Amino acid sequence: MPQNLKIVYFVAPNAAALARRAAEFFVVEAEKAVAARGRARIAISGGSTPKAAFAALGERGEEWRPRMPWEKLDLFWVDERCVPPDNAESNYRMTREALLDDVPLKPEQIHRMKGELEPDDAAARYESELRTSFGLQGAEIPRFDLVELGLGPDGHTASLFPHTEALHETKRLVVANYVEAVDMWRVTLTRPVINQARQVFFLISGADKAMILNEVLQGPRDPERLPSQFITPVDGILTLLLDQAAASFLPAPDAEGRGVLERNS
Ligand code: 6PG
Repeated sequence: MPQNLKIVYFVAPNAAALARRAAEFFVVEAEKAVAARGRARIAISGGSTPKAAFAALGERGEEWRPRMPWEKLDLFWVDERCVPPDNAESNYRMTREALLDDVPLKPEQIHRMKGELEPDDAAARYESELRTSFGLQGAEIPRFDLVELGLGPDGHTASLFPHTEALHETKRLVVANYVEAVDMWRVTLTRPVINQARQVFFLISGADKAMILNEVLQGPRDPERLPSQFITPVDGILTLLLDQAAASFLPAPDAEGRGVLERNS
């Protein structure tokens, strides 16, 4: 566990520019992973924020679709709601509509969390799928090349919600988590898996996230209440892609729109 966490944030002028910045980030990190290891294994979040970035990635007229090494990409999720894949709440459905229907990924490259199953069964199956995909032995933790996260208004990320059981899981890779605040079962990657990734970035947009983001980054350490504070990548760097509205309480970035914060993790 790193003693100090270096938080690097990039601020785009608005949500549309942020989506393009995020598409660029996905492509660059995927290209780096493929160059280094022959494949790119990426875990994405659900919710609404990433939709525009996914749409930009898959847009035929845009520069990113032809640059992404689709044939060498394995796509995973950081969490899923325990609903069928065609349900309006499904993170998979959101991703299928925003991205998957438009890009050349084969079914075996798309590692969906099966929200239609009983929650514990869905979690166990996904853990098994991770072990197979990453060729894990014993207590090994999968090392994703890139994990994209969102930030909830209550400081949650993935489905690591405040004061819920999943926050304390440090052995299993994937767990079912009942979230009373939304009266819903979820399936989520656990903290150790997210923190083991080579690159973790939060994608955050909108003025409604500015206060909670500032509290997570600059407020007192209280990860039970602000689970995003548990995100402390083992390599000691956490990246955030923000728009100006979300970044409004952070120290002003430099002329290139880049800011840096340090915090004891
Ligand atoms: C989910 C996500 C969740 C999301 C945040 C932010 O299943 O909803 O994985 O962690 O990233 O709740 O959601 P928005 O992008 O909709 O604000």
